[in-house]
Amino acid sequence: MKIAFAGTGYINKVHARSAQVCGLELVAVVNHKAESMVAFGKEFGIARQYKDMESMLKDGHIDALVVSTPNYLHSPQTIAALNAGIHVMVEKPMAMNTTEAEKMYKASERTGATLMVAHCWRFDQDVLWLKSQLEKLGKIIRTKGIGVHTHWGPSGWFTKKEYAGGGAMADMGIHALDTVRFLLGDPKPISVYAKMGTYYKDFDVDDTGIIIVEWDNGATSFIESGWWQPHADGPEAATQLYGTEGFGQLFPTRLEILNKKEEKVDITESGFEFPRQEHCPQSLYDTQLKYFIKCIETNQAPNPGGLEGIANMKVIDAAYESSHTGKAVDIK
Ligand SMILES: NC(=O)c1ccc[n+]([C@@H]2O[C@H](COP(=O)([O-])OP(=O)(O)OC[C@H]3O[C@@H](n4cnc5c(N)ncnc54)[C@H](O)[C@@H]3O)[C@@H](O)[C@H]2O)c1
Repeated sequence: MKIAFAGTGYINKVHARSAQVCGLELVAVVNHKAESMVAFGKEFGIARQYKDMESMLKDGHIDALVVSTPNYLHSPQTIAALNAGIHVMVEKPMAMNTTEAEKMYKASERTGATLMVAHCWRFDQDVLWLKSQLEKLGKIIRTKGIGVHTHWGPSGWFTKKEYAGGGAMADMGIHALDTVRFLLGDPKPISVYAKMGTYYKDFDVDDTGIIIVEWDNGATSFIESGWWQPHADGPEAATQLYGTEGFGQLFPTRLEILNKKEEKVDITESGFEFPRQEHCPQSLYDTQLKYFIKCIETNQAPNPGGLEGIANMKVIDAAYESSHTGKAVDIK
């Protein structure tokens, strides 16, 4: 399997290491910034380096592409690759908005090329463990999720609406959003109320936000997003589930069953590294990329694929609208 990379920044280095772990052929890379691309090419032994996607696609001989560029490039680069018959794993947020995301999904449907959205927490050991325990919690009524950076925030394109689409909610809140949606079994969002704003730095995207999502299974999710915050109730994707029979939590990962003593993750039974050493370990991304390759090889629609990415974009779009109008927004 020959794999290529769009973007040579932070997360594509992680994906390139995963590609090496998976034994793939790292064949091409694209970035308009030559210096960073040359360094990436050298680090990962990639000779074919291109300043634009068109030239890379014209030369062909690529099976799969990982798109980890600024958000405004996700849709055009993904669609161009899918149209060339190349399977794509695109970073979150899938696109700038739902309209773009739907075009990407349609391109994958039309061409038959695989489209996966890198909502990485679906591959996390603790997330999967909590999902395996849901029966013990009864019906999940409400949830709380965290997507917050404390004393830090990204810079550059992340903080510009024209390149990023949104701020901390689109960047970090979406991790908590996708994690809870995965845990709840991918329910449909039916309405969103949100409040967002910019209080900590001077840029034109949000650095602070909360959203309340109502799902079609009756559960309600509260999600906090932020950059540069003085406090976070947990690390990225930390989630709490309140069920009729118990409480389940990610990071720290544990259960509290009604009328029983607190139940702890049993390391010997789970086979997990617990407590975990790193919050976002390389192994998480290795598992994610392995799954992408498996989906391609078995011609299986990935989850998270286009539909999961679109559902998240719908919530994010509705959140920005709600924050602007001050009213809850229904999602069709
Ligand atoms: N899932 C995760 O854990 C995770 C973590 C970090 C970032 N991300 C996502 O990955 C994406 C990239 O984030 P990052 O932190 O790596 O950003 P980054 O700024 O470190 O990297 C972006 C890269 O894209 C390149 N680029 C810009 N314009 C380009 C063009 N026209 N063609 C090709 N390359 C171009 C930049 O030069 C840079 O190399 C974002 O969408 C972000 O939300 C996901």
